[in-house]
Amino acid sequence: MDQAVFASLLAPAGQELLARVAEQSGTVDDLTLGTRLRREHPSDLVAAAMTQHRLRERARAKFGPDAARMYFTPDALEQSTRASVARHRARRLITLGATAVVDLGCGIGGDLVALAREGLRVRGVETDPVRAAVARANLAALDLDGQVELGDATRTELAPDEVVFVDPARRDGSGRVFRLDALVPSWEFVTGCLRGRAVAKVMPGIAHDAVPEDVQAEWVSDDGDLVEACLWGAGFAQRPGRRATLLPAGLTLEAEDARPVTGPVLTHLVEPDDAVIRAGLVAELAARLGGHLLDPHIAWITTDHPDTGGLGRAFRVVTELPFREKQLRAALRERDVGALTIKKRGVDVVPERLVARLRLTGSTPATVVVTRVDGRGRAFLVDRADESR
Ligand SMILES: C[S@@+](CC[C@H](N)C(=O)[O-])C[C@H]1O[C@@H](n2cnc3c(N)ncnc32)[C@H](O)[C@@H]1O
Repeated sequence: MDQAVFASLLAPAGQELLARVAEQSGTVDDLTLGTRLRREHPSDLVAAAMTQHRLRERARAKFGPDAARMYFTPDALEQSTRASVARHRARRLITLGATAVVDLGCGIGGDLVALAREGLRVRGVETDPVRAAVARANLAALDLDGQVELGDATRTELAPDEVVFVDPARRDGSGRVFRLDALVPSWEFVTGCLRGRAVAKVMPGIAHDAVPEDVQAEWVSDDGDLVEACLWGAGFAQRPGRRATLLPAGLTLEAEDARPVTGPVLTHLVEPDDAVIRAGLVAELAARLGGHLLDPHIAWITTDHPDTGGLGRAFRVVTELPFREKQLRAALRERDVGALTIKKRGVDVVPERLVARLRLTGSTPATVVVTRVDGRGRAFLVDRADESR
């Protein structure tokens, strides 16, 4: 979709076309619908409207009901921040005293709309003309104030009251492998911003030692999915170090320099949320639960107090099972186990393959944790202690 087609989509004829696609899609197949609409509208506009409709459907997962009014491009939707996570950042910015934000590389405006909706004065800067136009249209579609400029983030003058938000893209666009030297705008630019009142979103795979001193790194998960690391610049004078935030509940755990203490298996095993793990706060969570780790390098906590408050998932240890496959199969058959879930950490086991090889035919579902303790493989039959999340 180029700028001219997007402009036509925003014009009354384009809006009418979009409404017809939304109304008729699902009642006839795309081919028939496309042929029918092309009788009255240019084919590039029909293609854009049909693509936009599909993107809106896909975007529901990130933007909820707003998605039906917003505009996207496939790649920019992929890169955009989920509404729940953007809202959390916007609210925290307000708590830290921000009133105005410049979003340097705003894409289609996932963060921008959340910042505006929380009452911040917003300005987006975007180098891609279509994305800039889409971000502008998204503010308007959601009745939000703000401006979007077409320009280079690295040359943007800041107003004295503006806080910077930057969510750099990955140069290769894949987003699979996280390399700081592949960020655009560059990591050097981002760290320069972070010396002041700036907040940056980066991939959660960022190494702890890459986080500049005086910067607070917040690993964020949403509904159990680890989604990003958010870096809070030195200008906010937040306690530097690491924290984990779990959405939607907004639970937070901060680094206390706890040492990883190990010990014997207690009544429960706790699997920390991925944000806690990536933030390196497993020992802190173990201390909070009055427990310890099974192994200093593996993220299983064991405790007699399994109420994690949502920071992890607790399993009651029913019994220890043999780790060796043949004996494990015999033990599971003896218990009439059929559907088996394997949770593994720190061992060279492919759960689906192990389940297939065990060929269990019983009638009882079961969960087995396979892990390493002091370099030795061990297996535990467990059941879920809390079904709250
Ligand atoms: C990861 S996306 C931002 C997504 C956005 N936070 C959202 O939620 O929709 C990064 C954006 O930065 C833009 N960008 C990269 N370098 C830029 C620069 N030097 N100036 C302005 N925009 C830039 C890219 O075009 C891309 O749209």
